[in-house]
Amino acid sequence: QADHKDGSKVKHPRSDSKAPLTLPVAPSLYDAPFPFYRRPAEMGCFSLDAKRCFHGDARQLRYYAPPPSEGPTPGFDLRDGYRDRYVQRDDSVREGLEHLLQWIVQNQKQLQTEDKGKLLNADFVTWRGHLTKVLTTPYENREGWLLAVTLFRGTLYISEFETEAARREREQRSEMLKELMYMGYKFEQYLCADTPDGIPDPTGVVNTNEAFCTVIRSRLGNHSLLFSGEVDCTDPRSPSPQPPSCYVELKTSKVMHNSAQRKSFYRHKVIKWWAQSFLPGVSRIVAGYRGPDGSIVGLETFETMKIFQLIREDQGCWKPAVCMNFCAAFLAFLKTVVTEDNPKLVHLFAWNPGHPVSFTVHQDSQYCVLPDWYVEALSA
Ligand code: A3P
Ligand code: MG
Ligand code: MG
Repeated sequence: QADHKDGSKVKHPRSDSKAPLTLPVAPSLYDAPFPFYRRPAEMGCFSLDAKRCFHGDARQLRYYAPPPSEGPTPGFDLRDGYRDRYVQRDDSVREGLEHLLQWIVQNQKQLQTEDKGKLLNADFVTWRGHLTKVLTTPYENREGWLLAVTLFRGTLYISEFETEAARREREQRSEMLKELMYMGYKFEQYLCADTPDGIPDPTGVVNTNEAFCTVIRSRLGNHSLLFSGEVDCTDPRSPSPQPPSCYVELKTSKVMHNSAQRKSFYRHKVIKWWAQSFLPGVSRIVAGYRGPDGSIVGLETFETMKIFQLIREDQGCWKPAVCMNFCAAFLAFLKTVVTEDNPKLVHLFAWNPGHPVSFTVHQDSQYCVLPDWYVEALSA
């Protein structure tokens, strides 16, 4: 055992145990038929208000309200309000699984299982965003990740920790990047109304504390999943009116001028858009293309389930099956490694581009996944 810099004990994984110590990520290893992925079902939802307070209801849900004709130039100015109508969430505050765990405590009855060894009817509990990162790992060559995992009463909880590199990037974010981030949220304001028949109000304040989150159940292979993800809006005129398929994901991207740019967009950006929306069963992604002056020069709708058709002609492009097979292998890896049921024990899985996934073991450290209030609420 070694001492970690925060003073906590770091147990090094034993090399004599039967569990493998690393997981390779090369796409060729996961190039197999698409695995079973059960149609995602919405279990419930919650909202975070302008002060980031939790409410177990849909008060923050917004309604998709596109401009009358999906014309070439809606002329939205994404820079408007950046200086004077922007309330930014404090992203130095680590929330962990907090809000999702709050939802679980309030909805315990719904999640009960016959299985005596388990408290909740799920093998894994996590954020959709964490799973998105796992899905895209075989193709990622820039950003690594840290995922902390704890087994508590039969369920594995996965919670991300910021890497040193990500922290530096966040703290040193350029003014241009800050404005670009604002523009992503501003785009939402131009396309969303507060009521099903309402019209967007672009004169309002953009407050990134506000969020509507869906809670989804699904299954990947033999892994049952309970995860939550933020949803941009619902389409009250959707041909598939049930959540989660009526939800719409909004995205912005730089306008493209040639096929090389579009190819690169499909290879590097659409993979993330696809993974984010496919996981919770969000069926449409509406892209707004940004001109150099920060105005939207065009809109394009992508059907999540048809994205694979756009990329399959391109040899060397990413494959949805590789993403899903890797995710299934990662979840199986977690099950073989994290076998001690203990709310204070954390296995920290780390990945950096060019390397396999590895892990370290921590007890009572800074890497805590489950807050005491949650462990107590579920032990009662
Ligand atoms: P765009 O993705 O349109 O640029 P989401 O699309 O996931 O609902 O996120 C809304 C906006 O939040 C994004 O809009 C972007 O501006 C910002 N955002 C989300 N994730 C981010 C990340 N990892 N880094 C920087 N900005 C991010
Ligand atoms: Mg969003
Ligand atoms: Mg979005």
